[in-house]
Amino acid sequence: MSDKKIIAVVGAAGAQGSGLVRAILNDKQGGYTARALSRKIDSDKAKALAQLGAELVAADLDNEDSLKKAFSGAHGVFVVTNFWEHFSAEKEVAQATHAAKAAKAAGVKHVIWSTLEDTRNWVPLSDNRMPLQGKYKVPHFDGKGEADKVFSDAGVPTTWLLTSFYWDNMIFFGMGPKKGPDGKLAIAFPTDDKKLPAIAVEDIGKCAYAIFKRGNEFIGKKIGISGEQLTGAQMAAKMTKALGREVVFNAVTPEAYRKFGFPGADDLGNMFQFKRDFNDYFCGARSVEFTRSLNPELLTFDAWLAKYKDKIPLE
Ligand SMILES: NC(=O)c1ccc[n+]([C@@H]2O[C@H](COP(=O)([O-])OP(=O)(O)OC[C@H]3O[C@@H](n4cnc5c(N)ncnc54)[C@H](OP(=O)(O)O)[C@@H]3O)[C@@H](O)[C@H]2O)c1
Repeated sequence: MSDKKIIAVVGAAGAQGSGLVRAILNDKQGGYTARALSRKIDSDKAKALAQLGAELVAADLDNEDSLKKAFSGAHGVFVVTNFWEHFSAEKEVAQATHAAKAAKAAGVKHVIWSTLEDTRNWVPLSDNRMPLQGKYKVPHFDGKGEADKVFSDAGVPTTWLLTSFYWDNMIFFGMGPKKGPDGKLAIAFPTDDKKLPAIAVEDIGKCAYAIFKRGNEFIGKKIGISGEQLTGAQMAAKMTKALGREVVFNAVTPEAYRKFGFPGADDLGNMFQFKRDFNDYFCGARSVEFTRSLNPELLTFDAWLAKYKDKIPLE
């Protein structure tokens, strides 16, 4: 039997989790091995992880017993929930609670919870700057932030990992440049002249792996990561250079963004407004220098563009 420490990765077939699985498996001498958790272990994405050397285990965040079994014997557990599958912050809290309790029951030594801010601690529900989304301001942030405490309540050794906007959203999430009425390509974020901390999603997994490897150093701590912090205008200038086509920055208002009409536009409009209005806090909580100290391979936006620019849909 291998004496490598097992890291059980929730969301292993997804963007964050697959980066962690790959980081573990690429480090042959690192002393760790990856257990990839998925509800669909027969899917092509899951099978591709098995091909790389991951152990595949079926588990569902809605089923605590399945998590207990999947976490059994694991040294570490990475937990991410996917708001965009159901649009329910309550469900994210419930899923995180299942994961925290299961990790405690399985005697896991280190959990990394992939989290975001509960923006209601900055913008109380009574504050009219942003419209309410039920009992939330930014549901896909607030539920994760609310769930932070379920890990401490469960008494499981935890690192709370504040993630950042993925540049990969321009490939997979419809946030790439779009042709405006003037025929020019434009990226549109309601961030004015403020900086948007962002990251290549593959680097989230690399940072998570570094956190596990550094033992107890970050247990009990909340740490934030980003690859670079750029204004929309700076992003557009870098895209113009990389793509060889002019890209402009359209500084829409949060009000206009909320009305874009796609599912989640109201949530994301509030999210960008939060990042804009609390920019010093938001950027400061995600130091690039610290992130690079965790993961020296950290991509800048230029490096991310060089690697992925051909995958960005441009029409
Ligand atoms: N896009 C961004 O810029 C950004 C930035 C920061 C944070 N986030 C957050 O990242 C989260 C999504 O992570 P991602 O980008 O890695 O997602 P993703 O690529 O869409 O993958 C989602 C993963 O979650 C797993 N999953 C979902 N429901 C599950 C369940 N009930 N039980 C077990 N596994 C489940 C899926 O596993 P199977 O289908 O294989 O079971 C899948 O691997 C969202 O909550 C979002 O708020 C996004």
